[in-house]
Amino acid sequence: MAGTKTNNKDMYYPSKEIIEQANVQDYEKRYKYSIEQREKFWEKEAENLDWYETWQTVLDDSEKPFYKWFKGGKLNIVHNAIDRHLKTWRRNKLALIWEGEPGDLRTFSYHALNREVSKFSNILKSMGVKKGDTVTIYMPQIPELAFAMLACAKLGAAHSVVYGGFSVEALAERVFDARSKVLVTADGGYRRGKVNDLKGIVDEALKRSPTIESCIVVKRTGHEVYMESGRDFWYHDLIELPIACNGGCETEKTDAEDPLFILYTSGTTGKPKGLVHTHGGYAVYTSTTHRYVFDIKEEDRWWCAADPGWITGHSYIVYGPLINGATVMMYEGAPNYPYPNRWWKMIEKYGITILYTSPTAVRGLMRFGDEWPKRYDLSTLRLLGSVGEPINPEAWRWYYEVIGQKRCPIMDTWWQTETGGFMITPLPITPLKPGSATKPFFGNEIGIVDDQGKEVSTGEEGKLVIKAPWPGMARTIHGDPDRYVQTYWADYKKQGWYKAGDSARIDEDGYVWIIGRIDDVIKVSGYRLGTAEIESALVSHSVVSEAAAIGLPHKLKGNAIHAFVILKDGVQQSSQLGEELREHVKQEVGPIARPEDVTFVDSLPKTRSGKIMRRVLKARTLGEEVGDLSTLEQ
Ligand code: WTA
Repeated sequence: MAGTKTNNKDMYYPSKEIIEQANVQDYEKRYKYSIEQREKFWEKEAENLDWYETWQTVLDDSEKPFYKWFKGGKLNIVHNAIDRHLKTWRRNKLALIWEGEPGDLRTFSYHALNREVSKFSNILKSMGVKKGDTVTIYMPQIPELAFAMLACAKLGAAHSVVYGGFSVEALAERVFDARSKVLVTADGGYRRGKVNDLKGIVDEALKRSPTIESCIVVKRTGHEVYMESGRDFWYHDLIELPIACNGGCETEKTDAEDPLFILYTSGTTGKPKGLVHTHGGYAVYTSTTHRYVFDIKEEDRWWCAADPGWITGHSYIVYGPLINGATVMMYEGAPNYPYPNRWWKMIEKYGITILYTSPTAVRGLMRFGDEWPKRYDLSTLRLLGSVGEPINPEAWRWYYEVIGQKRCPIMDTWWQTETGGFMITPLPITPLKPGSATKPFFGNEIGIVDDQGKEVSTGEEGKLVIKAPWPGMARTIHGDPDRYVQTYWADYKKQGWYKAGDSARIDEDGYVWIIGRIDDVIKVSGYRLGTAEIESALVSHSVVSEAAAIGLPHKLKGNAIHAFVILKDGVQQSSQLGEELREHVKQEVGPIARPEDVTFVDSLPKTRSGKIMRRVLKARTLGEEVGDLSTLEQ
């Protein structure tokens, strides 16, 4: 039976088949239990993992907001994602199916994955990497990216993956903040038929950030790169050395609270925040959410079409699915290259059963029309997913009707780099409303409140808060615990709530509707960028005196960046200069940060204390009501 739709409320119900096979059959009862018995609920889920030593306390809240989960427990996330599967028939199950943009195919069973990761670990070890170190990874979407992440974790070292779309300054800053001594990169990756010159960017960044002693370079494209003797080493040479293949590599026993990775994300200052996630709670949270929300089954072929360089890739390409022993699909390139049939062709070719992507990708493919997907057999698909920004009902319906053929419920998952995994999300059994992330996941209590922490009325917009800790939460900001407290926990200190930075509303059925960011973060094509990073790139140009960046609605990208610039005295405005500044931001931060346009202005709206009032700029540009201007300096 196909999913049915009721007219009165625009509600989409899952079919009998979907409900019958769902891993969770009873949301309300289980949710109630998970709130009343939060620790018991999570303890039970933690028992699905292999622990070297069991924990003494499930949740330690003695140093709020620095919560600790499964304190005293010892495990390694890689032992759970790989080692334990090797003892079962999953040893020969496909762990990874990878397709490169030019069409090359590589597959790895769990056995092969272990071999590759062990070799990588041995190489890192020979370079002196150990527990307590952080390795920076700056790679295209190739299997070695996942191997490098897992290799660090296996040794008990942390990884810091910097998204391959970031450029020189963004990379240099992140390498320096993590004080990495080893960097893993490649001679490039393919995107829309072109090679992106990652190694060239690395060379520039390392001039600005001198902590790196060794750089491992994976050969992906054969594109010529500069190799600095004594610093740069080819990966394909290293893996042939006896040190790389000395009979596997032992998995380090880590504490539940040992850092697993740092992932930098944009905040309200120019300096990115390095959020720290740990082995124990993160392993429990990503695997549980993945299993329940995407109903993962042994025979599934799971495709999360995100970049592993962002949290979605960390949690739902690498860790969550591998812990669940799933077969993971990974693709290197652009969705419409060389033709807009690329994704649909891959779904048919590999028999993908679950597709998880962003509204931007859906909108981007929708514009090419139904003919492209309609020519392919998409009948293997069972569930769909969306993440990164609110999905507009038009894109939701297209995704549901044309891709899911009215058969596949869409899991619109709301979460953040900080939360580690899904926080507000449907389950396959949940009746859906297009555009709503529906209800909180187990164990999560949320609120939509005003500045004082009072719940707003049903249907009204307010600030989204999370009222209790969860195992997947980031533990701190690397090197700056005060900033962690200030950013997330200071506004509702009395109540002890986490401030998400989003605004939202809840309707009469208890469904959550995310509206968008209320801080200085812009979501461009689902990618998170800080206005401050764009502004500091602009003022680093010699002609710029001051700059402000805002996000404005964009049909495909969700939001697009618009920059306002005050030039230094005597500098002439010109469209050519505007173009040069856009290019400059691209060089410094990355192509996704390139402003849509640059407007030259004589002044910027500011508060009396000198802070730029971006909401005023935004309202003025959109011709909207500006709202409360009491703090504006006239
Ligand atoms: C937004 C991405 C609406 C939100 C996993 C959040 C969403 C920010 C959704 C985090 C969704 C994420 N509906 N908005 N389903 N998912 N967001 O850290 O504004 O890159 O605060 O994590 O993305 O972005 P981040």
